[in-house]
Amino acid sequence: MNLPNHIAIIMDGNGRWGKKKYNNRLLGHEKGIKNIKKIIEYCLSKEISNLTIYALSKDNLVKRNKYEINNIFGLLKKYLETNIEYFKKNKVKINFIGELNLLPSSLRKILLLSEKKLRFLKKKLTLNVAINYSSKIEILNAMKKILKYKKKINIKNLESYLFTKVSGHPEIIIRTGGFKRLSDFLLWQAAYSELFFVTKFWPDFKVKDLENILIKFNKIKRNFGK
Ligand code: IPE
Ligand code: IPE
Ligand code: MG
Repeated sequence: MNLPNHIAIIMDGNGRWGKKKYNNRLLGHEKGIKNIKKIIEYCLSKEISNLTIYALSKDNLVKRNKYEINNIFGLLKKYLETNIEYFKKNKVKINFIGELNLLPSSLRKILLLSEKKLRFLKKKLTLNVAINYSSKIEILNAMKKILKYKKKINIKNLESYLFTKVSGHPEIIIRTGGFKRLSDFLLWQAAYSELFFVTKFWPDFKVKDLENILIKFNKIKRNFGK
């Protein structure tokens, strides 16, 4: 099987999962964050080198109620504290992508410290975690840097300033939760990605679902305009 180098996932549906099962959206986020590990393990086992996950959009941060956002921040902090040794042992490098400077400083400190602890000479998996992320802002900021450093405005230079520079563009973008949209995620990088929309909510997404997507991916003739 031809495996991708980079998979990206829009982990949508946590809230609805929690609401449906326990009448509590927050429990959906709790279950959702726990669901990430097996996907990481699968990528490690198959030597898929890049995984990008959408954890929180800039619009989520701006438009959702503070109680839910703070709860997600708490879950993230706890997750990092609990799993940092696992990541270290398995050579998973974490790269947070998004406007980290606009996050509460206590959280930002933990994110930066985790990144620092997971700098490897030889990493097995780069895990990009999008938090307070907006693809439109990412592209705008890349453009601003080109102007600031007086570089030529071209594709290569713009891409050199994207957060995902080290991972390249994802061959596959998956969105769980039933909606068929990108919600400001990797708009530039998605130019030739294969898009997969899954009706299951993120907490119910299994390795088997990913395997099914990879089987379908293998049957697709990718043209890139040819
Ligand atoms: C995705 O799940 C995770 C975040 C945006 C934090 P949602 O919270 O959007 O779940 P639904 O779409 O409301 O079910
Ligand atoms: C996108 O999901 C963001 C994440 C999954 C983190 P949303 O639930 O915020 O997207 P919309 O608002 O339905 O487009
Ligand atoms: Mg949603």
